[in-house]
Amino acid sequence: MTSKPNKPIMLFDCKTSQSVIGREKFLQAFEKILDHGAYCQGPETRELDAKLAEYCGTKHCSTCGSGTDALTLALMAWGVKPGDAVFVSSFTFVSSAEAPVLLGATPIFVDSDPDTYNMDPKDLQRAIDEVKKEGKLNLKAVIPVDIFGSPCQYDEIIKIAHDNGMKVLSDSCQSFGSVYKGKKSCSIADMSATSFYPTKPLGGYGDGGAAFSNTDEEDALVQSCRVHGMSPEDHYDNVRLGMTGRMNTFQAAVLLQKLTVLDQELKDRFRVASRYDNELSSYFGKQKILDGCRSAYALYTIHCNDRDELMSFLKENGIPCGAYYPRPVNKQTAYAEWNTRSLPVCENLSKTALSIPMTPYLDDEDLDYIISKMNEFAAKKMDKAA
Ligand SMILES: Cc1ncc(COP(=O)(O)O)c(C=O)c1O
Repeated sequence: MTSKPNKPIMLFDCKTSQSVIGREKFLQAFEKILDHGAYCQGPETRELDAKLAEYCGTKHCSTCGSGTDALTLALMAWGVKPGDAVFVSSFTFVSSAEAPVLLGATPIFVDSDPDTYNMDPKDLQRAIDEVKKEGKLNLKAVIPVDIFGSPCQYDEIIKIAHDNGMKVLSDSCQSFGSVYKGKKSCSIADMSATSFYPTKPLGGYGDGGAAFSNTDEEDALVQSCRVHGMSPEDHYDNVRLGMTGRMNTFQAAVLLQKLTVLDQELKDRFRVASRYDNELSSYFGKQKILDGCRSAYALYTIHCNDRDELMSFLKENGIPCGAYYPRPVNKQTAYAEWNTRSLPVCENLSKTALSIPMTPYLDDEDLDYIISKMNEFAAKKMDKAA
């Protein structure tokens, strides 16, 4: 029998890296900002833009206020407007549907693949055919999500989108640091958006995000829209609609420090994931990672039919876990008007998927305990069924 560790087990861990990096490094960086006084989009944000673009292998990166801002800014750069159809995932966080709606466009929800939990290219094609047949909307963009950090089927999705005259905006908000066939997250689609919300693989100490592109024109539009559509020549002439989407300089300083431990943290996330992959009972379905790809493991997620019972059992035993996402976006109140398609896989995942502790700082004692409790639950269920 494996005993419960004396310390609490965390679902996310937003704090331990502070002692790994050294708290004084953060304090020194903050003092520098207090001295120079450029609190919004100061020199640290420009340094971060350059470092993130280099890390991902893109021509441009423009940091902004959040992942949702980054998605919205990318769509603004493409001129998304009322009458446009934007194809989105439904088994995800709300932002990739919210961004097109904020611009007056129509979100078309696409079902997920039951193994990868990501956008199903076959259902994307079906959804496009339906919109074309109806003939009311202009095909504009596709926003696939790398759910839980795992890259989606980009080759198939990009081909379908481009064949239909659409661009692909990757919602890489959970996948910073993942790899798709040799390419880093945020460098694969036409544009990409990521989030630095504290629980993300590269998490800040508050909200933050970034939009990535490979063209000067798209990046210039993101930079303009991020400051109310400001003209680069005349700061008192707003030449298009935009928003307050700047990054706070203190946040950039935090992220510059966090970036120094990102690769080690990713290695530790793989260490945790491979113990789960190898040792969790086959009673649990596990999220499939595509061949030749690497997840950033923002979350480690399994699926099973008695998810709610498992969740109670784990919580009773001091193991935090979360049902991401218990309600697909198409079933949420604000999106009722666009809930026009049947999405059986999303519906099922919302009842069966469960995320279990995933942080780079889980040790063998934590993992032995989590795995033994999960397998104890599975063995009881399998005995009953036998
Ligand atoms: C898949 C996905 N997209 C978008 C977002 C939005 O990011 P933010 O909270 O930084 O706006 C999140 C954040 O939770 C997310 O998980």
